[in-house]
Amino acid sequence: MQIFHRSTNTISRATIFGAVFVVAFVFWAMAQIQRSPYVTYEGVVKPQPAPFSHQHHVTGLGIDCRYCHTSVENSKFAGIPPTKTCMNCHSQIWTNAALLEPVRESFRTDKSLQWTRVNQLPDYVFFDHSIHINKGVGCNTCHGPIDRMPLTYQHASLQMEWCLDCHRAPEKYLRPRDQVFDMQYPGPTPEDPVVVDGKSFTDQLSLGAALKNKYKLRTTADITSCSTCHR
Ligand code: HEC
Ligand code: HEC
Ligand code: HEC
Ligand code: HEC
Ligand code: HEC
Repeated sequence: MQIFHRSTNTISRATIFGAVFVVAFVFWAMAQIQRSPYVTYEGVVKPQPAPFSHQHHVTGLGIDCRYCHTSVENSKFAGIPPTKTCMNCHSQIWTNAALLEPVRESFRTDKSLQWTRVNQLPDYVFFDHSIHINKGVGCNTCHGPIDRMPLTYQHASLQMEWCLDCHRAPEKYLRPRDQVFDMQYPGPTPEDPVVVDGKSFTDQLSLGAALKNKYKLRTTADITSCSTCHR
């Protein structure tokens, strides 16, 4: 005996198929949201106690990153400058500018400015600036065109896939160590090769491979293993 009409089969098949489809869609949508700037903060400017502009201070005035981010070459942290660093100049220039009142107040009261973090990894991820700087990864490879930012924003997603894209093949990005702070570093081209130890390189992959040797990079297996970043 047939309890259900034959068409019910078609309907239930359609429903099961539909449910699978809906579930797949929900997963897809969640993945998109997880990668979207709303979650990663990519490209988002956050409120700061004073409108500090890298564009003015780096491109306009030519101040080196290390004048303010003093520990970037030899520690895990790049470091954010204390108010005193700003007052080296601002006790003499722009002394009445309203924009700088929070800076002067911080100096008078001896209370640090509370800069809002722009780039921040979760606690369970280990990161170290000095090794990246010393192995030839440029600031702008990770932080983008900071020298042209009137207000600082996060350039990359900082998600695991982003780290791994480089750790799997760092030769795509390495540059000579003395170019790390050069925000205009153009990379090698046939017209304008990059010279390392007397040898000319006209493309990134061969330059990267040579630097990988020169700076004694560890194996891909080593730097992509979970415990390198999660310890
Ligand atoms: C005159 C001082 C000064 C100089 C020079 C300077 N910075 Fe900064 N930098 C700051 C201050 C202050 C902040 C915190 C406010 C902000 O995020 O804009 C900051 C923030 C940053 C951040 C974001 C930090 C975070 O919270 O994630 C990055 C990245 C950065 N600087 C990179 C650079 C690079 C690269 C250079 C050189 C090309 C450079 N800075 C030069 C003062 C400076
Ligand atoms: C080497 C000198 C020097 C140092 C160090 C310096 N500044 Fe400046 N700053 C200037 C000059 C010069 C101007 C005017 C820039 C212009 O108009 O092009 C300026 C302008 C500013 C302005 C006005 C907005 C703008 O960008 O035009 C702010 C805000 C500011 N500085 C904040 C800071 C903070 C915060 C620090 C410390 C992290 C700092 N400055 C360190 C020289 C300096
Ligand atoms: C390999 C990618 C990478 C490179 C290269 C890099 N940074 Fe960063 N930077 C990061 C990450 C990731 C964070 C967030 C770290 C965290 O939350 O622990 C960060 C954070 C910062 C901060 C915030 C304060 C701190 O120390 O966490 C500053 C300032 C900064 N970087 C400046 C620089 C400067 C200047 C250079 C070049 C000399 C540079 N960075 C090169 C990835 C990089
Ligand atoms: C553009 C390239 C690049 C990016 C992006 C990058 N790294 Fe690296 N990372 C390197 C290189 C090159 C080394 C040095 C490897 C070596 O010495 O063999 C390194 C080494 C490391 C080490 C080893 C440090 C030590 O002391 O053992 C850690 C941890 C690390 N990276 C974490 C991260 C994390 C976390 C991210 C993402 C937030 C990241 N890296 C993004 C290129 C990169
Ligand atoms: C090069 C550095 C690096 C390596 C190697 C790495 N991770 Fe991660 N991992 C990260 C970063 C950065 C995040 C934070 C992502 C975020 O904030 O969205 C993360 C996040 C995670 C998370 C949290 C969930 C998620 O996806 O955001 C898990 C679980 C994880 N990693 C597991 C692993 C395992 C397992 C391995 C080894 C197969 C591994 N990781 C290797 C950098 C790394």
